[in-house]
Amino acid sequence: MRSSSLSYLPSTLVIDVPEIDEQHAGLFEQLETFKVSCIDHNAYQADEAEALFATLEAHCRTEERLARQSGLDFSGHGEKHRLMLRGIRKMLNDMEKPGADVFSLIRYVDYWFERHIQEEDRNLGINLRQVAFAEVGEQFADELLEQRVSG
Ligand SMILES: [Fe+2]
Repeated sequence: MRSSSLSYLPSTLVIDVPEIDEQHAGLFEQLETFKVSCIDHNAYQADEAEALFATLEAHCRTEERLARQSGLDFSGHGEKHRLMLRGIRKMLNDMEKPGADVFSLIRYVDYWFERHIQEEDRNLGINLRQVAFAEVGEQFADELLEQRVSG
């Protein structure tokens, strides 16, 4: 694991696919930075929220690419991503309305990340590792998953 932000990822949420783990850690870090920034400014920070949303969209594309490269069916998982992105998009749009609560948004995103990693990404990690193992054997499975970072 290379990223300094991995400390933001609880060990129970590590799925042992380096690219995904690093992105998850980065998302938790970005969410924490956003939260602190909102507290410091005592106001919703729209630019940071949009940047976080863009990172999340890119992360969903990463998981889809890794699944596709390994020949895995991603339809159910992809649908969860679409629902989640739609839900967060709506909350971001609603932040423009009076009385909007940024901390509800943060709790929602934090909860969603954690639950999604446990319910979906953990299985994705297992499946990706099984495919890599079948292709090249245990000894090289890590390297294969690393190589797919740039694929
Ligand atoms: Fe996912």
